[in-house]
Amino acid sequence: MRGKLVVGNWKMNGGLAANAALLGEIAAGWTNTPGRELAVCVPYPYLMQAQAALSSTSVSWGAQDVSEHPSGAFTGEVSAGMLAEFGCRYAIVGHSERRQYFGDSDGVVAAKAKAALGKGIIPIVCVGETLGERDAETTETVVLRQLGAVLERLGEDVRRIVVAYEPVWAIGTGLTATPEQAQAVHATLRSSVARSGAPEVPLLYGGSVKADNAQALFAMADIDGGLIGGASLKSTEFLAIARA
Ligand code: PGA
Repeated sequence: MRGKLVVGNWKMNGGLAANAALLGEIAAGWTNTPGRELAVCVPYPYLMQAQAALSSTSVSWGAQDVSEHPSGAFTGEVSAGMLAEFGCRYAIVGHSERRQYFGDSDGVVAAKAKAALGKGIIPIVCVGETLGERDAETTETVVLRQLGAVLERLGEDVRRIVVAYEPVWAIGTGLTATPEQAQAVHATLRSSVARSGAPEVPLLYGGSVKADNAQALFAMADIDGGLIGGASLKSTEFLAIARA
């Protein structure tokens, strides 16, 4: 049976003092439960802080991006090898904010996923359609194109990834896909990973997940947990989602 996974995406938020409190509260409030995993993806400068705060707990940590390159003249980039040195279990790749503001293409996202796996880091591959694409009824085409680039690049290693479906129109807007809308896309994604020989890949939902809607979303057949933005910055809310 597939386990459940909830991952916090802090985005560009935090500060040493606030992080110390948040990480401490999350660690204290989470009980290690078989088949359930909790993780936070923090800004790069705070990886060492997350590692120090969480390494003796059952909460994992990771980064929000990774370079597709192993090393060299790539000013501002951070390699998978560097993330591995700070104990990262996960790296988010292809978040819609990266695709939208930093031009990460499907090909770049696939290369980043490959680079992460090469250093033993699990890529959380984000896919999702804009409101325009949903209205034009191209949701399936879009998410299958985004995922397809990664499946093609990784081959057998697809078994080792996590996929997060995040409709762009639901991120940080307070609009959430209904459990049925999310499940419909997840079923499509499930068929796709199954065709690649990896039916057990965890499929997370993200986009305005809150304590009060998490349970209904996570109850759907192909939703294995969530990627949580805003609500991951408050320990009580984040823990309530994790317990859902
Ligand atoms: P949100 O963000 O929960 O604030 O909508 C989710 C995400 O972007 O990962």
